[in-house]
Amino acid sequence: MKAHKIAVVPGDGTGPEVTAEAVKVLQAAAGKNGFTVELAQFDFGGERYLKTGEVLPDSAVGDLRVFDAILLGAIGHPDVEPGILEKGILLRLRFELDQYINLRPVKLFPGVDTPLKDKGPEEIDFVVVRENTEGLYSGMGGFQYRGMPNEVATQIMCNTRAGVERCLRYAFDYTREHGKKKQLTLVAKRNVLTYAHDLWWRAFNEVGDADYADIKRDYAHVDATCMWMVKNPEWFDVLVTCNMFGDIITDLGAMIQGGMGIAAGGNINPEGVSMFEPIGGSAPKYTGQGVINPLAAICAAQMMCAHLGETAAAEAIEKAVITVTRDRLKSLSAGKMGYSTSEVGDLVAGLVG
Ligand code: IPM
Ligand code: MN
Repeated sequence: MKAHKIAVVPGDGTGPEVTAEAVKVLQAAAGKNGFTVELAQFDFGGERYLKTGEVLPDSAVGDLRVFDAILLGAIGHPDVEPGILEKGILLRLRFELDQYINLRPVKLFPGVDTPLKDKGPEEIDFVVVRENTEGLYSGMGGFQYRGMPNEVATQIMCNTRAGVERCLRYAFDYTREHGKKKQLTLVAKRNVLTYAHDLWWRAFNEVGDADYADIKRDYAHVDATCMWMVKNPEWFDVLVTCNMFGDIITDLGAMIQGGMGIAAGGNINPEGVSMFEPIGGSAPKYTGQGVINPLAAICAAQMMCAHLGETAAAEAIEKAVITVTRDRLKSLSAGKMGYSTSEVGDLVAGLVG
């Protein structure tokens, strides 16, 4: 029997609660689909940092590299200055494990409420491929005259041809394999970012012309993309974009697919170890109450199964989630589901075939 080695990083706030349900569903799916999961827990997060003063042990990246995949809950603690844990854990893992793709499906399941009037599952079904190691997230920049009236602060949007091209190639391949319309939209701001996004534009067209003549190429500025995501989400199939724009438009995407309770993503290194996570944060105000929605974490586990080649398990989890959202949950919002966090996990686990 095939055994997948999974590192579990529950993290902060509601992370441990939702991760427990994702693991429950993963084990149910494994049991039904002829594979096993060997789990190892890691305690990285705010509590550990406050106790030990260490954000991430130096051994962490090396330790995680031996796993087949990583399941992450949430990173972010109310008693820790913003940025320390996010940069020191989440971004460090993404960068050092070279997870250069952040794959974020925006899919409205049947029976789930969307704030978009007259739009349903037919209209809201696209995927964002977010570059995950460069751009404004590169950490380059600095202060001059910090704290003085003439202070200067810069944050460099660093784009490398190699980094942009590998992201574009992944997006083209993804569109070829999964796209409904075989259409890839480049989301950028090339009317203003005339260096950084000119590089994206040239690479998009060169790579497209050379190797992906079968894929329809489309372009939208990021501001217009926000508008179309609300007005005509059905125009989109696969979108590819830089790190910062991808961060922003996928929160909008999460809202139109039913909220942070359901939105999941994968930090993917196609040649290495990938990490799957709910895209929402640690939700400190709901911590420990058993009211947070675990479906986003469960959907992250679903994406992880697909990535590991456990296609039947991935399909079974998605089917179970659809049944639960359509027939059982009153709402996807924390505290309004009509069930507790662990009851939602039980419902999905019970339905996984
Ligand atoms: C996300 C989050 C992170 C990001 C933060 C916590 C660093 O917002 O995964 O979208 O900006 O990438
Ligand atoms: Mn974000």
